Amino acid sequence: VNGKVVIPVVVNVLYRTAAENISDAQIQSQIDVLNKDFTATNPDFANTPAEFAGVAANVDITFELKQIIRKSTTKTSWGTTDTMKNAKRGGIAPTSPSSNLNLWVCTIGGGILGYAQFPGGAAATDGVAIDSKYFGLSGTANYPYNLGRTASHEIGHWMNLRHIWGDANCGSDMVADTPTAQTSNYGVPAYPHVSTCLPAHNEMTMNYMDYTDDRGMFMFSNGQKSRMSALFVSGGARSGFGI
Ligand code: ARG
Ligand code: ZN
Ligand code: CA
Repeated sequence: VNGKVVIPVVVNVLYRTAAENISDAQIQSQIDVLNKDFTATNPDFANTPAEFAGVAANVDITFELKQIIRKSTTKTSWGTTDTMKNAKRGGIAPTSPSSNLNLWVCTIGGGILGYAQFPGGAAATDGVAIDSKYFGLSGTANYPYNLGRTASHEIGHWMNLRHIWGDANCGSDMVADTPTAQTSNYGVPAYPHVSTCLPAHNEMTMNYMDYTDDRGMFMFSNGQKSRMSALFVSGGARSGFGI
């Protein structure tokens, strides 16, 4: 109504071990990271190279922790087939997913940090799963994925963003102001990372939608902001969040 998108967040914690039952403080630290990363108030935003500074975005979306739901389990890992979202299979069903962002924090396994559902999918599985080892700051968060950027990346997908390399060799992410990237980048690439995609240019490896370590990613672009913002207006795929 006032033009601001504020996303209520329901955090669903599935735990077998005491460590997996992460603290309220660790959960709040993740919400705090999201609020910084989506308003360009993260301290490392200033590391954006000058050539990309003109397109680096304040996405202007904020997040509010609404509820934490905890459930114990005997499962050692949940995989990526949405079982954690299914109460009949020991998981937790999403809470009103058309007006809440549901996060599931659990052990996923298979080296997967997290995964998201794009807009337009089934309500019963809508939201983002993140392994508790890569969620928030401190506690169980594991270096080099201990700065909360798995959630920033996955929520980017939940808000309709594609990987910066378009999941193909020099593919398209359908965003004009993110330079074409050959493939995913890992670690913390030295700047400039010259692309093999032609014409010659530098890749935006510091974008949240690449695959670098958490400390290597610190910006969204204006074009990405447009894709995300479009979801929340009347007629958009996530208009239930209201603005
Ligand atoms: N879906 C990706 C994976 O599981 C997430 C990558 C997030 N990257 C990060 N630096 N936190 O591999
Ligand atoms: Zn991804
Ligand atoms: Ca692009």
